[in-house]
Amino acid sequence: MTDQSKTSEKPWGGRFSEPTDAFVERFTASVGFDQRLYHHDITGSIAHATMLAEVGVLTAAERDQIVEGLNGVKADIEAGNFEWSVSLEDVHMNIEARLTDRIGITGKKLHTGRSRNDQVATDIRLYLRDEIDVIAEELKRLQSGLLDVAEREADTIMPGFTHLQTAQPVTFGHHLMAWYEMLVRDAERLQDCRKRVNVMPLGAAALAGTTYPIDRAMTARLLGFDRPTENSLDSVSDRDFAIEFCSFAALLMTHLSRFSEELVLWTSAQFDFIDLPDRFCTGSSIMPQKKNPDVPELVRGKTGRVNGHLVSLLTLMKSQPLAYNKDNQEDKEPLFDTLDTVKGCLKAYADMVPAIRAKADSMRAAAKRGFSTATDLADYLVKKGVPFRDAHEIVGKAVAFGVAEQRDLSEMTLDELAGFSSVIAADVFDVLTLEGSVQARNHLGGTAPGQVRAAIARARQQL
Ligand code: ARG
Repeated sequence: MTDQSKTSEKPWGGRFSEPTDAFVERFTASVGFDQRLYHHDITGSIAHATMLAEVGVLTAAERDQIVEGLNGVKADIEAGNFEWSVSLEDVHMNIEARLTDRIGITGKKLHTGRSRNDQVATDIRLYLRDEIDVIAEELKRLQSGLLDVAEREADTIMPGFTHLQTAQPVTFGHHLMAWYEMLVRDAERLQDCRKRVNVMPLGAAALAGTTYPIDRAMTARLLGFDRPTENSLDSVSDRDFAIEFCSFAALLMTHLSRFSEELVLWTSAQFDFIDLPDRFCTGSSIMPQKKNPDVPELVRGKTGRVNGHLVSLLTLMKSQPLAYNKDNQEDKEPLFDTLDTVKGCLKAYADMVPAIRAKADSMRAAAKRGFSTATDLADYLVKKGVPFRDAHEIVGKAVAFGVAEQRDLSEMTLDELAGFSSVIAADVFDVLTLEGSVQARNHLGGTAPGQVRAAIARARQQL
């Protein structure tokens, strides 16, 4: 093959007098990773050709040939009969070249009135929109699983923590519903992001628009976009929508990472609050007794790369002049890896969460340690007329006594308790029980089992 024939192989080879350096060809190619856009690239091209025929730039016969040809290319790709060529750089030129191989000269008319700059921006948006819908469903599955476990565990008592020290008793259902609330916000952010993903840049062409009488509203309609974008320069260079998605993903992963941390702690022999089924754990090659919570650990670990991708995209866009720059080709790998990671983590969590088993006895025993009802005793004194600061001091003394004696407040005698304050009477034992403590926090957002059940019912309605 001569140099001349090699340069003219490139769709843009006309003005070049020597072939691309072999390394540069590989260095600049994106087909290795953007081929996953093939389906959306073809969908976009079919809509573009349909619109071109509608406005008279293509004949109906040309359009039909192109549409049939593109469907053939898609079938080839899906059947594995497609060899991606690095010398054709990216998914767009690979598909266009194959179309022309299939249908001849008409294939060369497809690119009329568009550029790869608006084409790639359109493809990513179409692809991301579909992936967002998949992620939204998976998120919903996880949320619904969480509600089921929360309902099952609405009465199960565990210690609530601040500073990871025993604070006050809570119900496990209430704790699970805290996770649920985080996911509600994630789901809202995802839908909000989708609105800005679902606008169509096609028609911006290279940067300034095109001289053909295109109908952008029609193409937008054909592709299910809410509307075409307003400004051609912005259309080809905007990647805010990908950054927004990665920002949603970073927060979601941050939440999953927090759940994970708790699951890891709770499965340990030291906490012993929950059990994860064997199918979500793995063993050790040396220590026969080990059952490791690999799924939560990996999810916690994968949060790092997702957070990193957000920073990659922000840094990619920082200082870019208008309009399209080749820098933007670097948007795909962080975005794609974010999508793959988030989908994998959500699937693992949606499958695993309903299988979490609470060890109620162990949780209860832990709630009994650490004087978790000390605030309840202080509130009891206040209700009998003791100022709160004095009540705090009195209970502090009682706790110090309990620490020395290794006994919980509920395990002291009435005489012992009354020794700390003369207002303490036999009814004190009602507030020192774990059940009494959680029952008493009976208001919107509180941990009382009835409130948790009501929160679950509201959540089910909204989901
Ligand atoms: N592969 C390119 C990308 O991902 C497509 C757009 C190329 N445009 C260009 N003018 N070289 O951004």
